[in-house]
Amino acid sequence: MSSMMPASESIAERHNDARPTALLFQGVRKHFWKNGQWVEAIRNATFDVQDGEFVAVIGPSGCGKSTLLNMAAGIMDRTGGELEHRGVPVSGSAVTSGVGYVTQKDTLLPWRTAMDNIQLPLEIRGLPKRERMEKAAKQIDLVGLSGFENHFPHELSGGMRKRVGLARTLIYEPQTLLMDEPFGALDAQLTLVMEEELLRILEQRRRTVLYVTHDLDEAITMADRVVVLAARPSTVHLVQDIDIPRPRDVHKVRYTPRFGQLHDILWNVISGDIRKGEEM
Ligand SMILES: Nc1ncnc2c1ncn2[C@@H]1O[C@H](COP(=O)(O)OP(=O)(O)OP(=O)(O)O)[C@@H](O)[C@H]1O
Ligand SMILES: [Mg+2]
Repeated sequence: MSSMMPASESIAERHNDARPTALLFQGVRKHFWKNGQWVEAIRNATFDVQDGEFVAVIGPSGCGKSTLLNMAAGIMDRTGGELEHRGVPVSGSAVTSGVGYVTQKDTLLPWRTAMDNIQLPLEIRGLPKRERMEKAAKQIDLVGLSGFENHFPHELSGGMRKRVGLARTLIYEPQTLLMDEPFGALDAQLTLVMEEELLRILEQRRRTVLYVTHDLDEAITMADRVVVLAARPSTVHLVQDIDIPRPRDVHKVRYTPRFGQLHDILWNVISGDIRKGEEM
């Protein structure tokens, strides 16, 4: 049975779970130094992601979703609390080992072809060319880019560029994927296609995913659990289990009764937060 439970209870219960915790945020805080003063962006982020679990984070613009991923990736320091990846404390000054990050902004190198963008992480790690090319070809196939290997980013559609970005992250086989609104800039139909593709890729090989979105339908479609962040300074308002069986059809699942019930539960919380934010 699905339940609405505070994040702290969820963590306590899940610590008895057989699966190890992949990511743990415990009382994580973040302040930014802005115009001569500290601005509080995140007050208390407490939630976890179990090994092999897909957790979606949803919340209003500016509530700190990208900041959470930046901290998990180890490229931004926190100002308080504990943050661990597979039991190892995450530092703000060293990229977290075993984590792949698909950032909100497209970061493909414009002067490199799709193939050469995808194999870049392996080049940086010093793998021999033949091995790099073999692995990149597999990724091209996996994300459905066959025939576009030699296209430059400006010759690719928005969806294709997203596929290149995903392949470039998957190629070094991270245990944990951080994804920040990966399909946010695409039109509604293409978003559905990309969601379907991502679920297909994850069916082939289960991974731990922490996925930021502002789209409630997308969060329910994709996730095992949804973390709702309240507006700035952010706290975790709700952690909701998504008890819809897999494999899921990204189109049909939206018309199932359980999807509607979960949508109602989450929308009540999110719309209440939006109204509170407007009154402030
Ligand atoms: N480097 C920074 N310096 C100062 N303030 C920052 C910095 N990065 C983020 N912020 C502030 O922290 C808050 C959270 O930003 P963040 O980008 O994490 O939000 P978000 O939830 O990802 O928003 P969106 O949905 O629009 O992508 C915002 O108010 C933002 O202005
Ligand atoms: Mg963001």
